[in-house]
Amino acid sequence: MRWMCMGLLVCAWVVTVAGFELDEGDDSKYVPNAYVVEMDSLSALGRRSDESVHDSIYRHMKRRGILFDVKNEYDTPDIMIGASMNLKDLEKVRTVPGVRHIQPVLRIRRPLPVHHTTIESPNDPNVPKNALSTHLMTGVDKAHAKGLFGEGIRIGIVDTGVDYTHPSLGGKLGKGHKVIGGHDFVGDHYNGTNDPTPDEDPLDQCSGHGTHSAGIIGADPGNIFGISGVAYKASLGAYRVFGCNGSTSDALIVGALIRAYNDGMDVITLSLGGVDGWTEGMGSVVASRIASHGRVVIVAAGNEGSVGSWYTSSPSNGVNTVSVGSVDNVVIPTQNITVKGVEHNPISYLQALPLNVTDDLPIYATSNDTTSKNDACEPLPPSTPDLSSHIVVIRRGGCFFTQKLDNAAKFGAKTFLIYNTDDGEFSGIAVGNYTAVLITADDGKWLVNQYAAGAPLRLHFPAEGAPFNIPDPKGGLVSSFSSYGPTYDMYFKPALVAPGGNILSTYNTKNGSWAVRSGTSMAAPFVAGASALFLEAKGKSRESVERMRDLMQTTAVGVKSNVTEDSVYQTASQQGAGLLQVDRAIWTKTIVRPGQLMLNDTVNFVSTHTISISNSYDHPVTYKLSHVPAGTALTIQANSSEPSKGPVPLVPAFATAEIQPSEVTIRPGHSKDVTIKFAPPSNVNPKQLPVYSGFIRIASPDEALKVTYLGAVGSLRAEPIIDQTEQYFGPGIQLPIVLDADALPQFGELNYTMDKHDYPSVAYRLTFGSPLVRLDLVDKDFALQKHAKTKRSAMWFEDAGDKDTVPTLGPLDILRYTPRNGYDAEPKLNGYNHYTFRGFFANRTRVDNGQYRILLRSLRVTGDRNSEADTESWLSPVIGVNHQPIPL
Ligand SMILES: *[C@@H]1O[C@H](CO)[C@@H](O)[C@H](O)[C@H]1NC(C)=O
Ligand SMILES: *[C@@H]1O[C@H](CO)[C@@H](O)[C@H](O)[C@H]1NC(C)=O
Ligand SMILES: *[C@@H]1O[C@H](CO)[C@@H](O)[C@H](O)[C@H]1NC(C)=O
Ligand SMILES: *[C@@H]1O[C@H](CO)[C@@H](O)[C@H](O)[C@H]1NC(C)=O
Ligand SMILES: *[C@@H]1O[C@H](CO)[C@@H](O)[C@H](O)[C@H]1NC(C)=O
Ligand SMILES: *[C@@H]1O[C@H](CO)[C@@H](O)[C@H](O)[C@H]1NC(C)=O
Ligand SMILES: *[C@@H]1O[C@H](CO)[C@@H](O)[C@H](O)[C@H]1NC(C)=O
Ligand SMILES: *[C@@H]1O[C@H](CO)[C@@H](O)[C@H](O)[C@H]1NC(C)=O
Ligand SMILES: *[C@@H]1O[C@H](CO)[C@@H](O)[C@H](O)[C@H]1NC(C)=O
Repeated sequence: MRWMCMGLLVCAWVVTVAGFELDEGDDSKYVPNAYVVEMDSLSALGRRSDESVHDSIYRHMKRRGILFDVKNEYDTPDIMIGASMNLKDLEKVRTVPGVRHIQPVLRIRRPLPVHHTTIESPNDPNVPKNALSTHLMTGVDKAHAKGLFGEGIRIGIVDTGVDYTHPSLGGKLGKGHKVIGGHDFVGDHYNGTNDPTPDEDPLDQCSGHGTHSAGIIGADPGNIFGISGVAYKASLGAYRVFGCNGSTSDALIVGALIRAYNDGMDVITLSLGGVDGWTEGMGSVVASRIASHGRVVIVAAGNEGSVGSWYTSSPSNGVNTVSVGSVDNVVIPTQNITVKGVEHNPISYLQALPLNVTDDLPIYATSNDTTSKNDACEPLPPSTPDLSSHIVVIRRGGCFFTQKLDNAAKFGAKTFLIYNTDDGEFSGIAVGNYTAVLITADDGKWLVNQYAAGAPLRLHFPAEGAPFNIPDPKGGLVSSFSSYGPTYDMYFKPALVAPGGNILSTYNTKNGSWAVRSGTSMAAPFVAGASALFLEAKGKSRESVERMRDLMQTTAVGVKSNVTEDSVYQTASQQGAGLLQVDRAIWTKTIVRPGQLMLNDTVNFVSTHTISISNSYDHPVTYKLSHVPAGTALTIQANSSEPSKGPVPLVPAFATAEIQPSEVTIRPGHSKDVTIKFAPPSNVNPKQLPVYSGFIRIASPDEALKVTYLGAVGSLRAEPIIDQTEQYFGPGIQLPIVLDADALPQFGELNYTMDKHDYPSVAYRLTFGSPLVRLDLVDKDFALQKHAKTKRSAMWFEDAGDKDTVPTLGPLDILRYTPRNGYDAEPKLNGYNHYTFRGFFANRTRVDNGQYRILLRSLRVTGDRNSEADTESWLSPVIGVNHQPIPL
């Protein structure tokens, strides 16, 4: 890898990969050459009577000369028959009888918390029992008060494993303990590229992520913080799919999901995912199938809120899964520093337990400028004194926290206060193993000003003291990091939100045992715990599982977009149906179905919907129905095809809803239907693909429920996909672009030897998802035709005998159901896509020497693959292939 600087401001990592086995680097969204082949369980075609489906298909593949290497087999007829394997000749496999479906294996990055603070464990008996704010926000306290704790329910956690040696998580593994079993699919050393070393023990003492999830669900009460899990009497199964470092794949996650299903887990929770945006991704499809077999599958929506709309992840996108976004906790646990030498209030820092700083120390500010944008991001000047007996004060921003801390630590610094910026979120920060904590912007400015003025100030860290829960001004709002939907096929994602910002829970015993973390990773296990309370109350029947999502959605409370009373409701594309209220989901006497209405885009608009209301009171009830709109999200920027970054701007342009009848009286035990006819908002620009949403409120004298709707103004099919602007890399560099051997843009014709270093690559960016993206090799004289005359000038040939009438020489790369790109300057972070051309077709046949171009095509969302008008194309400059003769 090396830096490539293009234009004036943007530098990007360019990845070059050695060895022609790899078309894309390790940073690809997909695992190179890895596919899941789904097999038809019924297919007897060409199968011998004594042969399994798997063996029959392997035999046919061998007979066709296909090279393959099986990694995992799936053999659960309800859910999936198939295998993941390394493959070279994809197109040939498609023709093997009994092969139903082939999907590339998606790489799933480690779930990183948005914020993290580790807490050391003192033996302080004075810690108060007031840390259950998240339970109060969601009615979990009320369910607990009625004796529901999840007893008899099994919850499978697909994650990094669990440190069950934690005293609050049972201490041991196996029957009779809290963690009753599970499986380690990977082993400590697995990092996403090497071979897994599976075993039966899902212990994790190096990562901590799964242990935090396990505590949110199941931490026993009676700990020093007075907290408890949502369903602490439930039994847990731990399914470990991450090693200590690196990524995993959705092929492993599919294996873990199926194992949890076969182990009889009633609820399966996944706090992981990869950017996807489609309901069709393999992890999403399998998760959804498990959910349709009477299990609850809960998945984190993703932490990509800053990237904007159309960006929820797989497997949360599964049609039947419950995708969970995050709201911020209403309180933040803090400790106090006492100021000595100058009269001042105590300074609060974000930590549940006091830091162990025994001496009273003076401070040292790395900059006296309280507006510095990159304080301590560069090495400190050599004139910096020894900092070992100072508290070092550094302003947030400009680089990673650890970079600032590394720089100060070079001068012996041991203890650090990082002060917030005015707009920074006051929540845990990632400081590695440094003793560093976050303080507020005002306290930081005061300290630095005192320092600059030479005040004789010392800081004292009291060693004991309960955490002081300060109210979070943004508490209860949707967390800014929580990903926005909907999916590209206009499914309603996320389903709802739960507490995920500033959550205190158990952590690895080797890394402090307790931590405050933020992320939708924390919200998903919360809902998994709530599901266990629900199933305990309602019974584990298929019917209660099927009704659960509707009940949770119709009883959730809508979340506003800001703290002020008059602000609009947050878009349902980020909050789903709102904040979970589990007590109401269990005990509501009014059953409303469905929980969500999908109106689709204007072209596919479904205007009329029917909802059913059932009265299970013992007396007649009169319900009044009304329309409560939420803010309309302008998902695409004005005069551009770039999606709006988060927070996605909201406008008060609302749909209308005609409710018939708007008042109904229902006898006890009966139900009635109500029809709603929607009209999308008219005073918005369809080019900005506005996503509108809101609630139909159903109020009785005793309770109010709601059904949440969501639709888009405009046409998904009209939304451009391939970024053909200079915005990303800067002036003069219009995407897509061919990069030469030096990773510099190729503008004219260029020849390549295709040997070790001399080959081109194509960098392209998608501003919207596409069901199909192809790179093909074409003759150098190939010309793009704007619109073909006949409707059947098919762009795609691989399905159902359609012929590609575009005269290509053959495919180089084919991507299906691909997500859009984000904004980062790295392909690794999904900033752009990157295809390396090493002189081979997709089927690994060598391209003859000659002059060519590369044709990039993408199919529009909901587009017709036989209509050229529904595709976009781009043609590269001339690329000469000049393979050098192999020396004898
Ligand atoms: C994964 O571990 C192997 C050794 O087992 C190492 O060669 C490889 O570079 C590692 N990959 C990553 C991405 O860290
Ligand atoms: C605090 O740090 C001191 C020395 O720095 C150490 O001796 C002591 O054990 C620590 N206390 C706790 C509770 O970790
Ligand atoms: C902190 O982590 C770094 C590497 O991440 C390691 O070199 C160092 O020894 C660690 N320090 C302590 C005190 O654990
Ligand atoms: C900040 O102020 C202190 C105290 O006046 C002074 O010693 C120090 O040099 C100043 N730092 C910088 C970077 O100017
Ligand atoms: C911290 O200081 C605040 C006032 O600034 C006070 O209300 C609170 O009780 C203190 N907390 C602790 C743990 O001492
Ligand atoms: C929206 O319409 C498209 C095109 O007909 C369809 O593929 C998609 O499934 C629809 N979405 C929903 C949620 O019904
Ligand atoms: C939310 O409200 C606060 C206080 O009124 C205001 O400062 C802030 O700008 C608002 N945020 C948004 C995104 O409107
Ligand atoms: C590339 O190679 C072809 C065939 O060998 C030759 O005709 C052409 O001039 C070369 N182009 C460049 C830019 O070197
Ligand atoms: C590989 O693909 C190319 C281009 O489509 C085709 O010409 C060639 O025959 C294929 N090779 C094999 C072995 O199928």
